Amino acid sequence: MTQLIRATKGRISVGRAPDNDHVVDHPMVSGHHARLTLDKRGWLLEDLDSANGTFVNGERVTEPTLVRPEDRIQIGPTRLRLAADGQVESDDLRLATRVDVQGVVYDVRPGIRLIRDVSFTIQPGEFVALMGPAGAGKTTLMENMNGNMRPTEGRVLVNGIDLHAHFDAMRGHIGYVPQDDIVHRKLTVYEACYYTAKLRMKGLSERDLHDRVVKVLTDLDIVHRANVVIGGPEARVLSGGQRKRVNLAMELVTDPAILFLDEPTSGLSSSDAKSVMDVLKGLSKRGRTIILTIHQPSKEIYEMMDNALILGVGGRLIYYGPIEGSYARFGSADSPDSLFEKLTPKGMIEADWDRMQEEYRATRWYREFVYERATERETLTLDRPKARAARRIGLRQFFILFERQAKLYTRDVGWLIGAVIGAPLLMFFLSMLLTEDDQRHVLLFISTLLAFFFGIFPAIEMMHSEATIYARERMVNLKIPSYLFSKVFFLLAFGIWQAGTMAAVVCWFTDLDGPFALVFLVLLSVQIGGVTAGLLFSTLSKSSKLALLLMLGWLVLMLAFSGFVIRLPDLRDQGTQWLLAPSSMRWGLGALNDLVANVPEDKVLFFGFEDELWKVNTAVNGLLALIPALLTALLLKLRDRV
Ligand SMILES: Nc1ncnc2c1ncn2[C@@H]1O[C@H](COP(=O)(O)OP(=O)(O)OP(=O)(O)O)[C@@H](O)[C@H]1O
Ligand SMILES: [Mg+2]
Repeated sequence: MTQLIRATKGRISVGRAPDNDHVVDHPMVSGHHARLTLDKRGWLLEDLDSANGTFVNGERVTEPTLVRPEDRIQIGPTRLRLAADGQVESDDLRLATRVDVQGVVYDVRPGIRLIRDVSFTIQPGEFVALMGPAGAGKTTLMENMNGNMRPTEGRVLVNGIDLHAHFDAMRGHIGYVPQDDIVHRKLTVYEACYYTAKLRMKGLSERDLHDRVVKVLTDLDIVHRANVVIGGPEARVLSGGQRKRVNLAMELVTDPAILFLDEPTSGLSSSDAKSVMDVLKGLSKRGRTIILTIHQPSKEIYEMMDNALILGVGGRLIYYGPIEGSYARFGSADSPDSLFEKLTPKGMIEADWDRMQEEYRATRWYREFVYERATERETLTLDRPKARAARRIGLRQFFILFERQAKLYTRDVGWLIGAVIGAPLLMFFLSMLLTEDDQRHVLLFISTLLAFFFGIFPAIEMMHSEATIYARERMVNLKIPSYLFSKVFFLLAFGIWQAGTMAAVVCWFTDLDGPFALVFLVLLSVQIGGVTAGLLFSTLSKSSKLALLLMLGWLVLMLAFSGFVIRLPDLRDQGTQWLLAPSSMRWGLGALNDLVANVPEDKVLFFGFEDELWKVNTAVNGLLALIPALLTALLLKLRDRV
């Protein structure tokens, strides 16, 4: 599907708007995206500050660049090439994406090999079933192919370009629906797709974004459920098939050229499975390259696909070829059930799987689908990108994520009410009870405890509950600071309210007479410490049980070392006052004691600035809050797999 582009007066403009010389109607392409200009030296390529970039040989163009006939120019899903006679040609990658897997080996750790020397080629528009016994390595192979994991040896080429070396240029064209559901349950179907679309595609107007989402939901026949809150699998608001379609819709909004799906039909009724497969078949007919893993499909579903790729245990390729050939290869009857029986005989040992792999290499399918396809491959040997394209500041992402976060939490009415009235109500109640002179600092202590608690509590669920969604979004384009700040600032908004109302109770409804603004600031600094600690623990935890345990443990420690339970003078006598140092509650309490005069306690922990005590303590609290935030960012960064 190569198309010749006509230049007007030695110029070719490319973009989504109809007034371009070459119009590319795709959500990842800006209205006026790039321009080629013919000058004495040849064609000069310029990116017109497009949202998603112009790439030459997988590298983002930052300044006008002279292009040569052997260069690959990529603009959204379009590939441009200079023909020998100086003309410019274009190919639509959505109709022409070829994937070459070349000798891929994957070790999780040295000595633990999950994929063994797998090679094959998928041609444009092919619909491939990736199958094999449970634990064979299907998911692992898929993640090696979609850029989520990096092969230990070998390469994956997409249209001849090394996927892992040039992931920046490719990431927008790969769709991946993982095995598990990855949706925010409290969003509606429409919102889930809308926020994904907005995060992944820059430069679309709200109108275009809306149209795009509605179109995808319509194509997937789920638009009538657009305003339903997705809910968990137990909620039964959406059927299993509809949930799968929501996941699929989120990937299809960007119109990817290659689509990877991990068990899209598992757990679905046969009619649901069939209709999901019909959608995929339709996409493959429109030229998209699709690879899906599937467990024991029905004959009807199995035979909808073009090719089967079968992995044996240990990640060995034991078949790749046409569907009908798979029956013949394993000597089974013409049904996938019978085929699976042949694939999972009892008592197979490693050597047997090795033998199956060897057997396959002697077949005509190997010759045709692996060997011959590999020799006709055009491989571009490109340099690794010199430097990663400078990441722009993710302010836009921050606002999108903040808005989504707010939607998620404010939809939880119980939580919202608790967050708004909990802190002031408790403080008010206690201030009525604790009226004696010597009970004053109990009230101060309670206010720091509540501030810390109201900080850590909502944060503790925030990260681990959406870890899979984060992983997918990170793979596409999510920036860690935008992500983290969206959470911190969202919680900060509540912190301002909670610390503010508590400070109001302390200063105005008791005889403590503290300066409101300063008491507020101190409480807020304690609360932020809670927020960042909560985010860190949440990131560390895989489950909410562990997260809650960490939170409680930390809370008890902070409380014990708040200087209220065990008094500072006692610790000082033992020379162990440093124990109080990590407790933001301690620094907060010291500051409050300082601000609200006449509290009978030794306030100064380490530093001797008795006059400026509240300032010092609040500054220390700010620093204490920074540590978990930085650790969280580091942890997220370390988890990047590629
Ligand atoms: N991090 C890891 N460390 C060690 N072994 C692992 C790790 N991840 C996966 N494995 C093992 O690698 C093998 C392949 O895992 P993978 O998830 O790719 O299998 P699969 O074919 O997708 O299985 P299923 O059909 O159950 O989805 C399994 O035996 C699994 O136990
Ligand atoms: Mg799997």
